[in-house]
Amino acid sequence: VTGSSVRPPLAGDYRQADRWTERAARVDARARTRGDIVLGSAAGTGYPRYLARAAGSQVWDVDGRQYVDFLIGYGPAILGHAHPEVAAAAAGSAAGGVCIAPFWSPLQVELLELLAEVIPHAERGMLLKTGSDATSAAVRLARIHTGRDEVIHCGYNGWHDWSQPFSTGVPGQVRELTASVRYGSLAELERQFARRPGRVACLVTVPFEDEVIPAGQLAALAELAHANGALFVLDEMRSAFRMTLGGAQSFFGVRADLVVLGKAMANGHPISAVVGRGDVLDCLGRTKISSSYFANPSEMAAALTTIGILRDTDALTTIWRTGELFIAGLRELVARAGLPAAAVGYPPMPFLAFDAGVPAGAVHAFYRRVAEAGVLLHPDHQWFVSAAHTEDDVARALAALATAAESFPADLAGCS
Ligand SMILES: Cc1ncc(COP(=O)(O)O)c(C=O)c1O
Repeated sequence: VTGSSVRPPLAGDYRQADRWTERAARVDARARTRGDIVLGSAAGTGYPRYLARAAGSQVWDVDGRQYVDFLIGYGPAILGHAHPEVAAAAAGSAAGGVCIAPFWSPLQVELLELLAEVIPHAERGMLLKTGSDATSAAVRLARIHTGRDEVIHCGYNGWHDWSQPFSTGVPGQVRELTASVRYGSLAELERQFARRPGRVACLVTVPFEDEVIPAGQLAALAELAHANGALFVLDEMRSAFRMTLGGAQSFFGVRADLVVLGKAMANGHPISAVVGRGDVLDCLGRTKISSSYFANPSEMAAALTTIGILRDTDALTTIWRTGELFIAGLRELVARAGLPAAAVGYPPMPFLAFDAGVPAGAVHAFYRRVAEAGVLLHPDHQWFVSAAHTEDDVARALAALATAAESFPADLAGCS
């Protein structure tokens, strides 16, 4: 990447953002309880708060500033924001009625057939709306199938009570049923299983976090779950349709009992799925997991179009190539600027991880400068490359990072 064209810092006023922030403070519980959405600091500089629109790899805030977006909704917009074919498929279907529950659309069958074609071992599947819906449904099915109550999980798997990302508001008795284990610690997982002999229904895990994992790691997790009589549930909300069309199962050569899909499945339209072993999915007949919205066909139309494009075009090759370019540029930047950080991750989900001892304040100041230069990169969460990102977007990101790196020593000094 040779581009050196960092945009000038985003000038202009924040009048519209301030206006919406003021109005929201009265009525919007989420806005009232959260400062800067990404950094948690005061609104008004750095990251945008309210967006007016998004297209391709770009987003525009309500005051007209334009940013290159490497968050893409935490992963969903894999083809780029507002992809015309996907948008047209969803809108075309919506024009024929949005909510048809309790009846079903033939699109439901077509989509589950397509998932069975592209996701390994997807003998059966069910469609839901969100990732939290789908991981919670997988846990319910695993509990029914095994007759056990307890769960071990790694990573963020949604906000519902069983996964307890935060403990406030979740009864102690519910919290006791779930053990959270840091991803990658096989010894800690073994200890947790040993503490719960014959009681764990499933291990729910993301296939990897920010970093590339050692060969055989995922297979070892699956083996450990099975050795303890638990189901192996792979939470592929971020990795599915991105690592390969078939997701982490194909990429790492593992087999899960259940796989949770969503996000990139419909390029951002709200739909998720649980797929996997037929005998486990058939436990659905012994419980009720339903919603007024599960049968909405327009998201199914979006998913059919998105998966079709990923299958039939070179979109995934483009994503990998762009991501490889990004990671190579990050490595070069770290070496050149002497940043206490490392370029990590798989090309579709790259990340610049600062060393453990670097104060969060300095990292946040660094990324705020990157955002002020018109590039959205998350300080604490892996980034996502879409098929709409270009070499020029990567060049802009690297140039913004290089500019921020120049001020990093001062930011660091300000924090110590
Ligand atoms: C790995 C993983 N699982 C589950 C979820 C929850 O999905 P949702 O936000 O759609 O409920 C997320 C969301 O970021 C996720 O990254």
